[in-house]
Amino acid sequence: MGMLIIDARPLMPEVLQELVPTSMHENIQNISKLVRQWTEGESLFDGEGEELRVAQIGGSTVGVGGVVKCRDFSGALRVTRFYVHPEFRNRGIATAIAVHLIKNASQFADAVTCNAQASVQATPFWESLGFLRIEHPGITHKLQIDKTLQI
Ligand SMILES: CC(C)(COP(=O)(O)OP(=O)(O)OC[C@H]1O[C@@H](n2cnc3c(N)ncnc32)[C@H](O)[C@@H]1OP(=O)(O)O)[C@@H](O)C(=O)NCCC(=O)NCCS
Repeated sequence: MGMLIIDARPLMPEVLQELVPTSMHENIQNISKLVRQWTEGESLFDGEGEELRVAQIGGSTVGVGGVVKCRDFSGALRVTRFYVHPEFRNRGIATAIAVHLIKNASQFADAVTCNAQASVQATPFWESLGFLRIEHPGITHKLQIDKTLQI
């Protein structure tokens, strides 16, 4: 069955409901936090270059990822809130979301950063996309946009 990568914003927060219990079950806080910050109007992914996308298969949400302004590096965006349902991992879903977001980000930014401390899978995932380790509080990796264009 085909996968769609769609704009989550018009469908928030209901579009993430399927991912809330599974993420909480594995003690990952980023989806509950995303829903809470959206509901409170604190993080709406509506700045320049910002986006929130979900991957759907057969009408069900199986993954999510976003991009926001990076406060630490001027001219950079930051990927955030990545999560794929455990039953759908290791089949390229997060890669498809990330490639979409990074291509879009390349119109607005010269670099993309991330914080890969959320789980053991996060570091190899971001490094598979060409992100390089950096030493910076709250940021673990950075991707220069010219490398992105080669994805
Ligand atoms: C990290 C996460 C989003 C990856 O999602 P995914 O859809 O399984 O990722 P992909 O299938 O696109 O993986 C792409 C590459 O990442 C790397 N990777 C992903 N999971 C990995 C793992 N468990 N171990 C080692 N490498 C891994 C691999 O290089 C993989 O490429 P390959 O399959 O050709 O080897 C997912 O594991 C997840 O939701 N984890 C919990 C939440 C989290 O850590 N979010 C990230 C916050 S920064």
